[in-house]
Amino acid sequence: MTLRNDIETIIFSEEDIKEITKRLADELTKDYEGKEPIFVALLKGSIMFMGDLVKYVDTHLELDFMDVSSYVGTKSTGDVKILKDLSSSIEGRHIVIVEDIVETGATLNYIIEFLRSRKPASVEVVTLLDKPVEDRKLDVEVKYVGTKIPEGFVVGYGLDFNEKYRNLPYIGLLKPELYE
Ligand code: IMP
Ligand code: MG
Repeated sequence: MTLRNDIETIIFSEEDIKEITKRLADELTKDYEGKEPIFVALLKGSIMFMGDLVKYVDTHLELDFMDVSSYVGTKSTGDVKILKDLSSSIEGRHIVIVEDIVETGATLNYIIEFLRSRKPASVEVVTLLDKPVEDRKLDVEVKYVGTKIPEGFVVGYGLDFNEKYRNLPYIGLLKPELYE
């Protein structure tokens, strides 16, 4: 049995992801030229996206990481905990939060408020996937969106189901019988 057996369909291949990532990186290069932003990836789901994205951003930037938890299984609890804080000061700096997927926005809202209290020059969000849901709580605009996805639970390319499947090189729909 291979991991592929647990995947209903591959929705974004490695090539698709690369294309989306390059397009976002080009926009970020233009918008952040000379601003020396700090790209903040949210562990662990965003690591692959962060790694690929910054390779194509052609201006100086710094990397930092935060670890927050809000999920158990496939349901958002809206209950966010900071497990690892930033290692650098962000006062007066331009912050780009790098997210794997935005669903309700509960996680992001919390983090944006948390970061804003430290007086950065700006805070924007880049997300690879945007999963529109009715109960979106986000009061900020996600400025850079890779692609919208339909309902269903996706895994791979950093995204997990109970910590599994992050190592898949593509993004796929998990077979529903595996999480229902
Ligand atoms: P939100 O707080 O509801 O926006 O949820 C965002 C977080 O939930 C993401 O950073 C992911 O870690 C996780 N998440 C939401 N949808 C999925 C999915 O389809 N697959 C894997 N993780 C997901
Ligand atoms: Mg997660």
